[in-house]
Amino acid sequence: MVAHTPDLVLRPARPDDAEAIAVLWHQGWRDGHAGHVPAELYRHRRLADFRDRVPPRLPATTVGTLGARVVGFVTVSDDEVEQVYVAGPARGTGVADTLLTTGERAVAERFDIAWLAVAVGNTRARRFYARRGWHDAAALDYRAEAGTGGPDRGATTVTVACRRYEKRVR
Ligand SMILES: CC(C)(COP(=O)(O)OP(=O)(O)OC[C@H]1O[C@@H](n2cnc3c(N)ncnc32)[C@H](O)[C@@H]1OP(=O)(O)O)[C@@H](O)C(=O)NCCC(=O)NCCS
Repeated sequence: MVAHTPDLVLRPARPDDAEAIAVLWHQGWRDGHAGHVPAELYRHRRLADFRDRVPPRLPATTVGTLGARVVGFVTVSDDEVEQVYVAGPARGTGVADTLLTTGERAVAERFDIAWLAVAVGNTRARRFYARRGWHDAAALDYRAEAGTGGPDRGATTVTVACRRYEKRVR
């Protein structure tokens, strides 16, 4: 049973939200992924890395706020709901449901089916998606961003064992 958070306000992310999003993402990433991803990925998931990753995603990000506090965010990339993160105290309150619905609606503007990748061991997230009507469609070796390989080598990735979840959104 999910509680309701009537004071929750959703709005497009702004540049001055970047630091709050980076801090929330950094903590939430550890909560959802520690022990479930290759150890080599950890050194690419410091707070400084999230500070780099947030600004390019701001135009595709919606934040959930309670008063002045950012308590969660969702980021969409084409048909992928790329990130859904909720601050620890706001988990289990329905904030995540509202954010995911927002992400699904954004995908539905252009696509019939939304997808997302979730680490195999992230059981809380997997239960959440299942409750929201997403189905476990396939195994997926997700190529997680892992910094740059040097000036001439472009971005590198670390492969994470994930499940691909899908949902018909229109
Ligand atoms: C994933 C996330 C957005 C879900 O939001 P939430 O508010 O926690 O979700 P809910 O509490 O509504 O639902 C979680 C489900 O997992 C269950 N659960 C709670 N704690 C759990 C745990 N430690 N292990 C497994 N399941 C757990 C809940 O009972 C609930 O299942 P139910 O609806 O069948 O009872 C949120 O937990 C989060 O931000 N996690 C860290 C970041 C993350 O992993 N993001 C997703 C990346 S793919």
